[in-house]
Amino acid sequence: MKKIGQFFYLVWWYIRTRFFGKKIPLQTVLFISDKCNLACKHCSVYNKTNPHVSTYAQVKEHLEYAYKLGSRFVDLEGGEVMIWRDGDYRINDLIDLAREVGFFSVTITTNAQLPFTGSHADSIWVSLDGYGEFHEEIRGKGTFARLEKNIATADHKHLSVNMVVNKLNYTSVEKTIQYAKDNPAIEMISINFYTPFPGAENLTLDKELRLQVIDKVIEMKRAGYPIMNSVSGLKLMKHNNFKRRCWVTNFIYPDGRKAGCAGEDTGICDDCGLCMAGEMNALFNFKPDTIFAGLKLRM
Ligand SMILES: C[S@@+](CC[C@H](N)C(=O)[O-])C[C@H]1O[C@@H](n2cnc3c(N)ncnc32)[C@H](O)[C@@H]1O
Repeated sequence: MKKIGQFFYLVWWYIRTRFFGKKIPLQTVLFISDKCNLACKHCSVYNKTNPHVSTYAQVKEHLEYAYKLGSRFVDLEGGEVMIWRDGDYRINDLIDLAREVGFFSVTITTNAQLPFTGSHADSIWVSLDGYGEFHEEIRGKGTFARLEKNIATADHKHLSVNMVVNKLNYTSVEKTIQYAKDNPAIEMISINFYTPFPGAENLTLDKELRLQVIDKVIEMKRAGYPIMNSVSGLKLMKHNNFKRRCWVTNFIYPDGRKAGCAGEDTGICDDCGLCMAGEMNALFNFKPDTIFAGLKLRM
């Protein structure tokens, strides 16, 4: 019954946004802190000197704000969500809170350096930036072994991995997709590309190499590998010259700032590697494979 209600909400949201031009976000990326236990080469989010950590009360306010805007899916992000604390509150309390507020599903993204067995999240994204040494080149020594151990013991049926492809790890894409397929703890893999947000090392992949990687990912998707991206969305990411629908996601940053994608403010959309941008365009153009991928992911 609940699922039917949620499905009708999605249809209503789609009609209002697609046919009446309303810009209503459907998903929220809520940064609960920028405190992290890693310092990844490609990342501009973590803050080692003066980290912001939202309190339980602040997260509640942010969730209610996003829900009132119309958003129904939330990804709790960091920093590292597994180190978030406010007194006795832990990440599972925030996940429960998001559901109480009314979100249909709650996702967390983690670097899997700490155990997350018993997570209350509907789905878990683990960042995996290549196989073995490729991952460690970006995330540090020992990070791959800890990730493997923690995903093996997570015992969560919707655990997927996210690879951010850059000039250090692009040769590992095929092997990483194969690894995701062969690992029984992993449901799917999502592919994104490095986006040059200011403050991180510039690891942008050459245009020609990016095209080759996308072609390989499409080929593997067609061959049945568990790749979350839709073929329609991937094709758009080849040239990045499609109409942006990024308002579908609203962002609440670690300092509490409520805004759109940071890429828009910094003028880097032409170099964007966040494949959600292509997926949103394909969704609005009613591409069946993208609609199917979205429903599978969220419902
Ligand atoms: C900011 S991290 C925080 C969550 C968690 N600590 C982790 O490492 O996954 C969230 C996701 O953003 C990705 N990310 C960070 N910097 C990026 C960039 N410049 N371009 C694309 N994705 C990026 C990370 O790889 C990760 O999958």
